[in-house]
Amino acid sequence: MIARAGENGYRVAITGVGAHAPEQILTNHDLARMVETSDEWIMERTGIRERRIAAPEEALSDLCLPACRDALERADAAPASIDLIIVATVTPDMAFPSTAAILANQLGSRDAAAYDLSAGCTGFMYALVQAYGMLAGGLVHRALVVGGDVLSRILDWEDRTTCVVFGDGAGAAVLERVPRGGFIGFELGADGSGGPQLTLPAGGSRAPATEETVAERLHYVQMNGREVFKFATRVLVSSAENVLRECGRTLDEVDVYVPHQANVRIIEYATKKLGIPVEKVVVNVDRYGNTSSGSIPLALADAEEEGRLEDGKLVLMTGMGAGLTWGSALVEWISANGGNA
Ligand code: ACO
Repeated sequence: MIARAGENGYRVAITGVGAHAPEQILTNHDLARMVETSDEWIMERTGIRERRIAAPEEALSDLCLPACRDALERADAAPASIDLIIVATVTPDMAFPSTAAILANQLGSRDAAAYDLSAGCTGFMYALVQAYGMLAGGLVHRALVVGGDVLSRILDWEDRTTCVVFGDGAGAAVLERVPRGGFIGFELGADGSGGPQLTLPAGGSRAPATEETVAERLHYVQMNGREVFKFATRVLVSSAENVLRECGRTLDEVDVYVPHQANVRIIEYATKKLGIPVEKVVVNVDRYGNTSSGSIPLALADAEEEGRLEDGKLVLMTGMGAGLTWGSALVEWISANGGNA
């Protein structure tokens, strides 16, 4: 789907972002003691220096809760005023209840509809668009969109082609109606024929857990890195171009570019191809690795912390991941005060 925002509904914007990553840092040097790899190889191929790893007792909701509280505080919004919570993830606390329902209870958002959404690393972009639609249509008034993953739980720590790339983290955004600015347009896409390139084969109804699935290590992420790399570079470019064209805007007008944080080489390729100056690009993959659904909100929170998301800035976000899926959003940023004025 591709669409302009705001033609038939209320204006909607992000009025607060927050993030949280676990305390424990796993460096490339640590990894080199676990599998046959090196700091040089990982840096050269991915640009990742270190990533965060959840403690054994930390589940996804434990990472999301502080991120949500942070976002709510920045938006000056009470938890009780939230009437929609969507959590994008592939590593919920458990299959059900949803992590969103767990969070609604922990936050005290008693009037919120709450559910999880699965679109791989693109999950946060899908969740943003869903929340936008419900806000713009007047179904809800204030939403919490959360993206996070504890991928360390589903990584094969003996597989050097995957365990060096990912990390744990979560981010959250408050969305609400605003008098000006806000979302301008979106593109979301999926190509299921590419699904086998990035999978977690067992544990669902296709291959329930058995002794065999465990022995065959089918409960871990399996990735064809080269094919995913090609896909990622292609859609980062095409999705950004598509959404800009749909909205009648140009790349020159973009002030801040927030790509999915999968790999520095992928980001550099797309940035160069699109012709976006490096100073406009948000990059934190060196410190977090690929945090899947947490990647874009973590990057947004970092950009906010650095004072890069000023009122009136044009922000372009693009994610891509398992499915295979991709998604972009174009938004005119507004500060919480600006939005509520
Ligand atoms: N350390 C050392 N050597 C390694 C490692 C490692 N960790 N991993 C692979 N190698 C070796 C391979 O065995 C191979 O050796 P060979 O030439 O003797 O066969 C060699 O390094 C090159 O392997 P490639 O797979 O071609 O390496 P590539 O340059 O493609 O980098 C990587 C691998 C980093 C995984 C890259 O393909 C990539 O980033 N792909 C995209 C991954 C990604 O972004 N996934 C997520 C996107 S979607 C989402 O976010 C869920």
